Amino acid sequence: MNRVYIKTYGCQMNERDSEAVAGMLNERGYVIVNSEEIADIVLLNTCSIRDQSEQKAIGKAGQLLKHKGNKSQFLLGILGCMAQNRGQALLDSLPDLDLIVGTQKFHHTPDHLDALISSLDQKVSDVPLPIVDLDEEPDSQNTIRHHDPTNGRVSTFVSIMQGCDMNCSFCIVPKTRGAERSRPMEQIVDEIHSIVDNGTREVTLLGQIVTSYGKREYPTLRGKTPFVQLLEKIHEIQGLHRIRFTSPHPLGFRKDLITAFHEMPKLGEYAHLPVQSGSNQMLKAMNRPYSRERYLKLIDSLRAVSPNMHFSTDIIVGFPGETEDDFRQTKSLFKRVGFDMAFIFKYSERTGTMAAEKSDQVSREIKDSRNQELLRILEGHSLQRNRSLVGSIQEILVEGPARKGEGMLMGRTRGYRKVVFPGPPSMIGELINIHIKEATVTVLKGVPAVSHSTAQGTASTLVNLT
Ligand code: 5AD
Repeated sequence: MNRVYIKTYGCQMNERDSEAVAGMLNERGYVIVNSEEIADIVLLNTCSIRDQSEQKAIGKAGQLLKHKGNKSQFLLGILGCMAQNRGQALLDSLPDLDLIVGTQKFHHTPDHLDALISSLDQKVSDVPLPIVDLDEEPDSQNTIRHHDPTNGRVSTFVSIMQGCDMNCSFCIVPKTRGAERSRPMEQIVDEIHSIVDNGTREVTLLGQIVTSYGKREYPTLRGKTPFVQLLEKIHEIQGLHRIRFTSPHPLGFRKDLITAFHEMPKLGEYAHLPVQSGSNQMLKAMNRPYSRERYLKLIDSLRAVSPNMHFSTDIIVGFPGETEDDFRQTKSLFKRVGFDMAFIFKYSERTGTMAAEKSDQVSREIKDSRNQELLRILEGHSLQRNRSLVGSIQEILVEGPARKGEGMLMGRTRGYRKVVFPGPPSMIGELINIHIKEATVTVLKGVPAVSHSTAQGTASTLVNLT
């Protein structure tokens, strides 16, 4: 009764939370398995960002409970955002659930499973079932710090804060994740030191609004926000090659952070900058406190300090009241920036948010067609940008074997473009120069180039690996 399968829905923060729960369960003697078929316990770590995300997890839970039937030796838990959002009400549609754990309570999962298992063993339970644990917990942001020391992953997520104090009118996250709470800088730096000792070469710092990191806990020093102070400390860590972060708020992306892209080479040439809409009218209705002009100025400022910047974004199409003209504004901003990547969301009404009260909801057909239109533009940009790299030499952080092709490795450029190339496993975790030969929308292909010193300086030549 100790094999646990964790299925994760949604964002990188959820992936990280699941990893930490897996680490804690491992320490407690549970075995993490990679299929529900062989699990005694299934935990669904859920997402509430759109209705569809919730429906997927509810469907899965229903299916698992049907399988469970009268098999008493199987436990099902729902963790994370949907647990927090729907709470006890989940039991109306899923009365046989054993466990509901909110976003500030992940670290209690091992205790809850222990209690559930012992209640199964005793037949007559002294634990009230199901276990529902949803309250706020002070300092819970400091509990997501377990990593599996044996996995030796090149690129690792690190949670630096939890919660969100913004009040975007479409968004459920302030309800599911609570108010902003940051982890102490030293704790984060220590954690990164230890994962670097275990082979990590790139970290992605995670938070709902990373640019708000430490706002309450630390002062701004010499014009540098706590987030930039944290980046500086992490940048000093020997053996760490790259630092990424997600998601910043355009409003928090100030001069100190723009300058950081010039001063800190480990940041590379990539930023994810959620814009949501290119129409000032929509931005106002979304309660996003910046204008299209300010966003574009930010993009220009970043390109001024780092001309090869690559950008990705989040966009919502079909927000209530979005007209053809508003959408045209989004398209024009989209083209002007030339995003390499974008997550395009069809607006989904979330009960309890301000936008859900609006009467001028946009039809599904219009959302679909706007979504398709942006996807087509995006495809064009990604291909064009990737093609522009053909013939160049790019510095790649090698992440591991490619999914397809024997002897092929996968890594990413400083601009976060995916590259596949032939090479030995000893290259994993290294920074390697790759000569780019081919490009598709999503991936670049190349071959390693070796640098050698010549009378004129350093030159790169191709190695023939075949
Ligand atoms: N409908 C559609 N997309 C949403 N997002 C957040 N809330 C909604 C919603 N109600 C998108 C935003 C955000 C990303 C994580 O999810 O674009 O940046």
